[in-house]
Amino acid sequence: MAIGIMSALVEEIAYLLEKMEVKQKETIAQKHFYIGTIEKEEVILCYSGVGKVNASMTTQLLIDHFHVRFVILTGTAGLLNPNLKTGDIVVSEDAVEYDVDFTPLGYPLGEIPGLPLAYQANPLLIKIALQAGKGLKGIKVKKGRILSGDQFIASEQIKKELRETFKGDVVEAEGAAVGEVCYLNKVPFVVVRVISDEADATAPTDFQELLEEVSIHAQLLVLRMLKGIRALKAKNKK
Ligand code: ADE
Repeated sequence: MAIGIMSALVEEIAYLLEKMEVKQKETIAQKHFYIGTIEKEEVILCYSGVGKVNASMTTQLLIDHFHVRFVILTGTAGLLNPNLKTGDIVVSEDAVEYDVDFTPLGYPLGEIPGLPLAYQANPLLIKIALQAGKGLKGIKVKKGRILSGDQFIASEQIKKELRETFKGDVVEAEGAAVGEVCYLNKVPFVVVRVISDEADATAPTDFQELLEEVSIHAQLLVLRMLKGIRALKAKNKK
């Protein structure tokens, strides 16, 4: 069974695609899936398009059609935690859909009735990601909470509210959707996000200018994760 690696934008997987030995390409529902190996590991590499619906359907395709063992979501995010900066990486402890609101029915903000408020990432994948991050010179890698919603956050006020309400470290538009689909399918997942902007008034410019440059950071970490997974498999075989 292959490993599913996904991003929202093609720029966020471009470096991994360069490193990949692509054996086949498949397109389903306008989503492109690259089938092959990276670091000798079998992977399905894809980009979903932006937002929670795109991320959800692409994750379900990775699970149903490609039968992936687990899902690694990578890409960029806006900064919420003031102790981090642009270029730093957050590995998901968990992920919350901040734009869900069933509070009139008595549910906490962010919680869909019948589902958890936060989707927990897989502890072993978190460990492998943090270990992989140790090899990245000059880049801080921290475990934290990902907030997801169908918006690009570019406001100091909204950013403050998100930080206070949900204690999020970064904000993006896919992580918790991947978390929800993986939770429902009992498939492990982890999110690896590099900070591209500060989710304030400067965010649109920063995001567009830094997207390709900082995306490399997260992809280098994912590449090192694949090496770590391979080493772990070799060790377990002994
Ligand atoms: N992805 C990268 N930066 C973001 C932001 N500021 N808001 C939402 N998603 C993002």
